[in-house]
Amino acid sequence: MQIKTVGVLGCGLMGSGIAQVAAMAGYKTIVREVNDQFLDRGLGRIRKFLDDGVTKGKVAADARDKALANLSGTTTFGELKGCDLILEAIVENLDEKRQTYATLESVLKEQTILVSNTSSLCITELAAGTRRPDRFAGLHFFNPVPIMKLVEVIRALTTSDATYQAVFSFAQSLGKEPITAPDRPGFIVNRLLVPYLLDAVRAYENGLGTLEDIDKGMTLGCGYPMGPFTLLDFVGLDTTYYIANIMFEEFREPAYAPPPLLKRMVLAGRLGRKSGQGFYKY
Ligand code: 3HC
Repeated sequence: MQIKTVGVLGCGLMGSGIAQVAAMAGYKTIVREVNDQFLDRGLGRIRKFLDDGVTKGKVAADARDKALANLSGTTTFGELKGCDLILEAIVENLDEKRQTYATLESVLKEQTILVSNTSSLCITELAAGTRRPDRFAGLHFFNPVPIMKLVEVIRALTTSDATYQAVFSFAQSLGKEPITAPDRPGFIVNRLLVPYLLDAVRAYENGLGTLEDIDKGMTLGCGYPMGPFTLLDFVGLDTTYYIANIMFEEFREPAYAPPPLLKRMVLAGRLGRKSGQGFYKY
């Protein structure tokens, strides 16, 4: 099946990045948000990223203009009815995703493929809640979406070969490097990254070193672009805590148990960059 028009549900940090890369790859892209305020903010984020890219000499002015011409926003589901592929990037809540899929499916074409950008929920469970379990898969992007090359492609138990191949090829057409990950909590990357981040918090609580020294150790000693605490603040402490809990629930291994400090920081609203304070102040 040829994918020409794509819909993106959610224009937050991940949804706006996904809509941007789809529009830049030449797809007619329609992004849906729940209200005009969220939509304007998300579309504004895309415009700024593209404008900054032009200023930095990373994006040609012509490519920016073409991407913006391919992109439109809506607050209704009806406008998504002609889409060949829908990428869902709304809140990480099973009930909300299920309700959204149910409303969406009443307008979609029979053959439309639906993918979720979830980082933590079970793809097979999401697929089972739709009327198209064979035309459903996971497509997990990384933040910042326009810059990070990786995308994880996750098959539900029910995903057909044709859907898997179409989604894999679509990821490649965005200029990304897809890898195939299993439908297990954390997929591949978070399965390795989250225990590392949790271990850094535990080590810090146990007096291993200052935040700055631990971060410096991992950036300068291992060449990581960000140390664990800078990365935790970047990803969001609430997001990491949420993923850790789901991984711990499924695997019951201490490596995935969220450390007490992380839980308390989330409870105190210190969520990282987005709230102005996490391990560092912004
Ligand atoms: N348009 C186009 N290109 C741009 C751009 C723009 N507006 N802004 C920046 N860039 C380019 C830069 O030119 C640069 O390209 P180059 O390497 O070819 O020179 C590259 O993007 C990096 O940008 P900067 O130089 O401005 O910034 P940094 O060098 O400080 O890198 C970073 C920023 C890419 C965020 C880097 O710190 C990094 O890789 N951090 C780790 C991020 C990470 O691990 N993300 C994954 C988190 S886990 C996740 O998302 C999964 C979820 O489930 C939790």
